[in-house]
Amino acid sequence: MQDSSQLAAIHYAVKQTRNHRMSKFFNTMVIAGFLASSTAVWAGTETAATTEEATEAVAEMAPVMIDEALAKKGKKTFKKCKACHKVGDKAKNGVGPMLNGVYGAEMGSKPDYKYSKGMLALAADGGVWTEENLRTFLTSPKKFVNKTKMSFKGLKEKDLDGMVEYLKSVSQ
Ligand code: HEC
Repeated sequence: MQDSSQLAAIHYAVKQTRNHRMSKFFNTMVIAGFLASSTAVWAGTETAATTEEATEAVAEMAPVMIDEALAKKGKKTFKKCKACHKVGDKAKNGVGPMLNGVYGAEMGSKPDYKYSKGMLALAADGGVWTEENLRTFLTSPKKFVNKTKMSFKGLKEKDLDGMVEYLKSVSQ
């Protein structure tokens, strides 16, 4: 919490460094620190909630351990996707965006690919391809993304584990 004694301390610190060769730098640092702490106080509970969400997201994403056998199963299922999606060193966007690194990436973030409005709306909301989101999307793309360009009816439950594991493996 900022109070007058802290402000006084900041002024004192600025004064102490004013004649220093690096005074400009220190002033900037002091002001930056002041702004950062003030913002944290003003943002209050919102900051706390955001931090919590961020921690949860990180916990969900890491560490990425690959179950090779499961990924191999997913590689077979990926045959259903290959008409539109490429992975690997030479992968480029096609009918769909290339999928290297898609696990954990922001939705709709492959450069030079023209996504549907629905996908861009999810992206604007901060959507990330977590395991859960991939599973829901791949079960029924149409339900997940409003008027998606991906014309694919969806995967069966039994194929989801392998598919997600394979996407993880091409996201290392
Ligand atoms: C008929 C073509 C087609 C097939 C088959 C297809 N997709 Fe897609 N996919 C697309 C298109 C087009 C998009 C872009 C969707 C949009 O913008 O709404 C997309 C988007 C995606 C995205 C989001 C990528 C990003 O950058 O946000 C993922 C993940 C994905 N597809 C995975 C798969 C997987 C896994 C399969 C196979 C099980 C598959 N797709 C099958 C065409 C296809």
